[in-house]
Amino acid sequence: MSKYIIKGDAKIDGEVDISGSKNSALPIIAACILNGGVNTLYNMPNIRDTNGMLEILSDLGCKVVKKKNKVIIDSSNASKMNINEKLMREMRSSVIVVGALLARFRKAIFSYPGGCEIGARPIDLHINGFRKLGINIDENTRYIVCKCDKIIPAEIHLDFPSVGATENLMLASVLSDGETILRNVAMEPEIEDLQNFLNRMGAKISGAGSNIIKIKGVKKLKEVSYNIMPDRIETGTFLCYTAGTGGKIELNNVRDEITLPVLVKLEETGCKIYREPNKIVLQAPKRLKAVDIQTLPYPGFPTDMQSVFLAMLVTAKGTSIVTENIFENRFKCVPELMRMGAKISISGSSAIVKGVRKITGTNLVATDLRGGAALIGAAMKAKGITTIDNCEYIERGYEKLEYKLKKLNIDFTKER
Ligand code: UD1
Repeated sequence: MSKYIIKGDAKIDGEVDISGSKNSALPIIAACILNGGVNTLYNMPNIRDTNGMLEILSDLGCKVVKKKNKVIIDSSNASKMNINEKLMREMRSSVIVVGALLARFRKAIFSYPGGCEIGARPIDLHINGFRKLGINIDENTRYIVCKCDKIIPAEIHLDFPSVGATENLMLASVLSDGETILRNVAMEPEIEDLQNFLNRMGAKISGAGSNIIKIKGVKKLKEVSYNIMPDRIETGTFLCYTAGTGGKIELNNVRDEITLPVLVKLEETGCKIYREPNKIVLQAPKRLKAVDIQTLPYPGFPTDMQSVFLAMLVTAKGTSIVTENIFENRFKCVPELMRMGAKISISGSSAIVKGVRKITGTNLVATDLRGGAALIGAAMKAKGITTIDNCEYIERGYEKLEYKLKKLNIDFTKER
């Protein structure tokens, strides 16, 4: 395990380019199984999660060639239908591969997925949806075995707008014979990116971005090239780092409108924000004002930004209330922040953050991807040096972090 060493009392100042979206890239990589051909993906973030997903596809028989942020996936020889158990345990989004395997081979065998321990994260909505598509599911052994003779188009209402279940059901029904209608689906921008990718392949999907998606099954899908959209969570993370240090940042290769739920809250803290469709500039005040946030499905405030935003608020003026409504175990960075002198108490699904003037650097441990990213934000404004162990978690989702932070005037090193 490696650690990060960060010198505090810093102020972000500079310009960086935002990488491709992790949460878009993962289902799009899985979707490359569908057409049994060669697909080229650009703006692919080179991070642990996308590399893990590419490894899953290689293990299934796909040929994967990576050249910087371009990835060529040839799925013509994919023949395995068992998803590698070890890889499945490492990453929750591996479950998305199931929908693609079912569409192409009518069969998938897998174990329960792992991933960051931010909550129970069951897959019942995926499984129930598959059943409605006529898929037989045997959950009685160590493995879940899904198979069918054909996918039967259906009308499916999700009990909760799960991002992963929406994507999985889109993938599973894309090559069926008839129209599938998905209701109460997730409206996250990454789902629209998946729809755009699949339609480029020749799929007939409409409605992504709203809460009803219609998938008219097609017989065949063609080979495509596609540019992954920018990462709105990385965008928000750098904005919060800047706001927390009283700095200034210019971010390129962003999509401003999908970052809006975070931008609105940053403005409430006193930040000045200038935005163009592909650029965001943020100038922070000397000290932020406290604000309340509550996480909700998109277009609400994203749960993936909650920890980083919370860490930013620990030095704001006044008391903030941060409420987590999506995952039940997403305050794992709070005890670490308290070790730095932050004043936070947890009450049910809310964290009450009493802003302090200064926090102090110490030795910390990252417990999950976004919680780890939150500790970096706290470290750069703390007094003295902070070390963060288990930084592999953070590398699941942030590309070239060392390079980008150094470019932004942060004294940041990775001890290998
Ligand atoms: C995706 C994102 C993740 C983000 C989350 C919520 C990817 C790769 N990951 O994760 O970064 O934090 O959306 O925006 O895109 N649930 C069930 N049963 C299910 C599925 C989900 O109860 O079958 C619950 C989960 O436990 C959780 C909530 O629904 O409480 C949201 O989960 P979901 O939207 O499915 O998140 P993921 O797709 O796993």
